[in-house]
Amino acid sequence: LSSFKIAVIPGDGIGQEVMPEGLKIIELAANSVGITLELMQLDWACADYYLAHGVMLPEDWKKQLDGVDAIYFGAVGWPEVVPDHISLWDSLLQFRREFDQYINLRPVRTFAGVPFPLAGKAPGDIQYSIVRENTEGEYSSVGGVMFANTDREVVVQQSVFTRHGADRVLKYAYELAASSAPDSRRLTVATKSNGMAISMPWWDERAKAMSNNYPDVVWDKQHIDILCARLVLQPERFDVIVATNLFGDILSDLGPATTGTIGIAPSANLNPERVFPSLFEPVHGSAPDIAGKGIANPVGMIWSGAMMLDFLTQGDSRGRQAHDVILKAIEMVLANGPRTPDLGGDASTKEMGDAIAALVSASF
Ligand code: NAD
Ligand code: IPM
Ligand code: MN
Repeated sequence: LSSFKIAVIPGDGIGQEVMPEGLKIIELAANSVGITLELMQLDWACADYYLAHGVMLPEDWKKQLDGVDAIYFGAVGWPEVVPDHISLWDSLLQFRREFDQYINLRPVRTFAGVPFPLAGKAPGDIQYSIVRENTEGEYSSVGGVMFANTDREVVVQQSVFTRHGADRVLKYAYELAASSAPDSRRLTVATKSNGMAISMPWWDERAKAMSNNYPDVVWDKQHIDILCARLVLQPERFDVIVATNLFGDILSDLGPATTGTIGIAPSANLNPERVFPSLFEPVHGSAPDIAGKGIANPVGMIWSGAMMLDFLTQGDSRGRQAHDVILKAIEMVLANGPRTPDLGGDASTKEMGDAIAALVSASF
């Protein structure tokens, strides 16, 4: 295939500002390797779709996304106006659930020239992938409030884990570790089986059972609290980390923070079987505190786009080439080029995007 249909959802806040940079660069790279992207722009966000319609998505949203190969997503959220649990549960989280995007792959690495806050560590010490379960676990709407608005108020929120759900994310993580270079075949399973007496001991058992299929992978399990500490103190210990939904969410802001900024971090919400479209988005949110200033770091958005091209064309060297050229350009601009304020520079989002685009263009 050489042509892909992409649903483009810039969303809210800085999602609107980083998306044009992402699009500019992925279109340039795709065209250069002979891939055509057919873009379908969608205004599904808090501003102004929710304000106008009172819902995050049109009723026929699935029909509108029929035939789409991937979703390129900025960020959603405008907490002052729309409660986060409505805006996110009904948009991003709904895509993940309904399109069974059960893998959230979030690579973490340092870049030359980007200062990071860990003392005594070399840049190469931080390089690992977080594999986050993305459709179940702690993110659930099972539960309720009893005796509401009284002194006896009781709130229950259930976590939901399935054998199918745990096994498939564990399998993906073991496969990823097994396919890594021989000295990087380490997998850490995030757990909390000392405090959560039912779900987490069971999760540990599933991980152990899966490990039997991967004798080449050195695996361990670590409680989420000490795992957070070790990501700061000994990040060089990690290659692949697999975690349930909430733990994976927390780790995937912590990891990028240790590399200097969360503004560069990408994510791929994958339906590996390709029955449904996958979704590619930066790890960060709509950043209301800097929205409208044109200073958001566009790298997370751009890198996510590179991951999208690679995933779409799996088995085809063109997508891989487009991905690699974009990553190289990101590396060069992070090292020498104009940088946004989160990186200590004073460049605008557009200046940084333009610099990356120029290098991509020059690479073909
Ligand atoms: P956030 O990621 O939006 O921002 C956290 C901090 O990081 C802010 O200080 C922000 O300025 C900074 N930051 C984030 N991205 C940056 C970038 N590209 N360049 C420079 N600085 C950047 O997280 P938050 O403040 O917790 O959430 C704000 C809103 O976004 C909420 O509504 C939240 O629910 C939503 N959110 C959405 C997504 C998503 O759509 N994928 C992800 C996270 C948060
Ligand atoms: C992320 C975000 C989302 C999550 C929020 C916005 C619901 O933080 O993609 O990491 O928790 O998954
Ligand atoms: Mn998050």
